[in-house]
Amino acid sequence: MTISVNGVEAMLPSDPRVSLLDLLREQLGLSGTKKGCDQGACGACTVLVDGERILSCLALAVQYDGRSVTTIEGLGTAECPHPLQSAFIAHDGFQCGYCTPGQICSAMGMIEEVRRGTPSHVTSDITAEVIPFSRDEVRERMSGNLCRCGAHNGIVDAIATLLPEAAE
Ligand code: FES
Ligand code: FES
Repeated sequence: MTISVNGVEAMLPSDPRVSLLDLLREQLGLSGTKKGCDQGACGACTVLVDGERILSCLALAVQYDGRSVTTIEGLGTAECPHPLQSAFIAHDGFQCGYCTPGQICSAMGMIEEVRRGTPSHVTSDITAEVIPFSRDEVRERMSGNLCRCGAHNGIVDAIATLLPEAAE
């Protein structure tokens, strides 16, 4: 059984109790994905699986046989950052940075959810084909990613740079 991580095939663990988070961090050495609460409450461990955001601390690695995982290491590098990574720097979207990889992966998945027309708790018209992207939509959809440094305003500012309609 194998899993693709940032485009590289890796063996899945024989122990079915290993979480996807522990596979990434401890067996594959990808420490960009963070372990905060390890119980699904903080969002620090968010990664993308086939483009969908998931909490890797709540996922068993063997569940993802044959799937494609993208971590923060797969989005950009220091030399060639993803535009969202650059926006976090430009808008002070972090202080300690511990929550940042999860924030960025979550934002990537969230943007695609909106583009597909998936409504949120604050979407006024859930039948609308195109969901207006407001700062409230960003806040609601990022509410599962906590920042103990309180950088949430900068995080919303950074995400809004990729969403002109949410920049107001
Ligand atoms: S470490 Fe997974 S949600 Fe906190
Ligand atoms: S930047 Fe420190 S927890 Fe978010």
